[in-house]
Amino acid sequence: KKTLKIAVIPGDGIGKEVMPEGLRVLKAAAQRFDLALDFHEIEWASCDYYLAKGQMMPDDWKAQLSGMDAILFGAVGWPQTVPDHVSLWGSLLKFRREFDQYINLRPVRLFDGVPCPLAGRKPGEIDYFVVRENTEGEYTNLGGVMYAGTEREIVIQETVMSRFGADRVLKYAFELANSRARKHLTVATKSNGIAISMPWWDGRADAVGADFPEVTIDKQHIDILSARFVLQPGRFDVVVASNLFGDILSDLGPATTGTIGLAPSANLNPERKFPSLFEPVHGSAPDIYGQNIANPVAMIWSAALMLDFLGQRAAHDAILKAIERVLVEGPRTRDLGGQASTTEMGEAIAALV
Ligand code: NAD
Ligand code: IPM
Ligand code: MN
Repeated sequence: KKTLKIAVIPGDGIGKEVMPEGLRVLKAAAQRFDLALDFHEIEWASCDYYLAKGQMMPDDWKAQLSGMDAILFGAVGWPQTVPDHVSLWGSLLKFRREFDQYINLRPVRLFDGVPCPLAGRKPGEIDYFVVRENTEGEYTNLGGVMYAGTEREIVIQETVMSRFGADRVLKYAFELANSRARKHLTVATKSNGIAISMPWWDGRADAVGADFPEVTIDKQHIDILSARFVLQPGRFDVVVASNLFGDILSDLGPATTGTIGLAPSANLNPERKFPSLFEPVHGSAPDIYGQNIANPVAMIWSAALMLDFLGQRAAHDAILKAIERVLVEGPRTRDLGGQASTTEMGEAIAALV
């Protein structure tokens, strides 16, 4: 059997609290399914490292990670000591771009046993994927501040979209939609206001969609799309969005399923030229760090997505079943209305794998 090399980056804040639970569950899955998982724990890509060394990562970070089969990531960010754009552009956003993880796959699902903040919704009625473009778009470092400190101060921040970059994420989303029962793709746009890039993006969706005649396409402006996430979540099957729109939708969607503490993500390089990265959607949550009350499910589900991507479908399914059962039977963390600690919930899930 092949040994799977996993880089483990807890990062900051609750990243350091949920990561042990992800590892606990992975170890349980490794035992049950006879997997060889070789964990490489990494203390850099954290604000503590930055404060000690003046940079987020060592110069040879790419060489250190390139041989890994996958990266398991907690969260980075400690704005009290390091500005967020410094810590994130110095770590996570570098991984996404330099490892060409151009798909950010973010499932949204209402689980049995989790109170839904939308009145009257039952499990099964919210079940879709956000496919977020992850390497270009609104996230750039192109631009600058001119006439700084004067009344004429000007700031420019460019958006960059390439045909190559748009087509590949759109193709992935069409393929995903095509593989699902409903074969329905929502394309997030804002072609009324963002009058250059967004009409172009819609055109690329039509062009790529020509190869997927069975998939129905629904282009929606991001404003009403957001409203419909709340009012008509049953409309959605696969949603494809630019980097920034996808970021926003992938917090809003999970919020409608009770808590962002459940939401996982897979930052994929589908060609497997570089390692892919698996992480919760949420961040380091400084407001609750240190109390051992963070919900570990987003981290654990992300670990399951990693195993699935590495060819271990059965192990993924077993972890998801264990999550489903614990969400029904408890123990549950506070964001789910319970009193359990991060550790207790992680242990309960691990015990059922
Ligand atoms: P956040 O996701 O860290 O927290 C938002 C809110 O959700 C907080 O009230 C927090 O307590 C709660 N929350 C988050 N995860 C939870 C969990 N597992 N269980 C229970 N409650 C949870 O977002 P933020 O406050 O905007 O950002 C805090 C820091 O994290 C910033 O530095 C930000 O840049 C960073 N961040 C990093 C990532 C990442 O590494 N992928 C993602 C988002 C934010
Ligand atoms: C996410 C996060 C990141 C993003 C931040 C921390 C840069 O919010 O993974 O959703 O915007 O991509
Ligand atoms: Mn986000």
